[in-house]
Amino acid sequence: MKGVLICGGMGTRLRPLTDITNKSLLPVYDKPLVLYPLQVLLDAGIKDIAVITGPEHMTQITQFLGDGSKYGGTFAYKVQEKPGGIAQALALAEEFAEGSRICAMLGDNVFFDDLSPMIKEFKKGARVFLKEVPDPERFGVAELDKDGKMVLSLEEKPKAPKSNLAVTGCYLYDERCFAMIRKLKPSPRGELEITDLSALYLEEKSLTASVLKDEWIDAGTFESLFRAAELVRERK
Ligand code: G1P
Repeated sequence: MKGVLICGGMGTRLRPLTDITNKSLLPVYDKPLVLYPLQVLLDAGIKDIAVITGPEHMTQITQFLGDGSKYGGTFAYKVQEKPGGIAQALALAEEFAEGSRICAMLGDNVFFDDLSPMIKEFKKGARVFLKEVPDPERFGVAELDKDGKMVLSLEEKPKAPKSNLAVTGCYLYDERCFAMIRKLKPSPRGELEITDLSALYLEEKSLTASVLKDEWIDAGTFESLFRAAELVRERK
């Protein structure tokens, strides 16, 4: 399995912190944010990683992460010319993937669960990781079957969420994901949505889910970035 670390987005909600700095390089207590999702990949034994970011941030991201040797990995870089969605960013890794399965990680997500056993056992279809949250309308939202394994419905930032299970920023896809991205149409906000990609797997009943037990943070706001730092400090 190969990894794709997606450090896109304008970080609009974190201005002026993100005026010249990519969101994923902002500090979370003692480390830049991106090192937390990167560690999830490394812990799962994924060493071949494509890092995707916008042209304005490529220099700082490559200067910070380097060729991967510092982390025992090999990193490749792909530029997402315009913010066209997470699925569009993932599509840039098709050649890099060389037909292998993919673990796509969002560069602003901090996980406290150990995801590595679930990442390692993944074989086919797609898998998402869910977390119960008080404000599901901010996220992708999944509804699960009674066994809590298969996803029954999936919606991006619904006004009336069908559950309180947010889709977190770690996605496992089999090698067909790139062909499936080609079938996607832009969403109302003009982006190729990762939720729509997962929904194609849902249509063929091959989208499974794991519900996380520990904390999870999408550090895209001042409050969540601050909370992530607090939690990291508490767990030291
Ligand atoms: C993205 C996804 C959303 C997911 C979230 C997790 O949202 O579109 O489904 O719940 O990441 O961090 P964004 O943060 O890009 O609005």
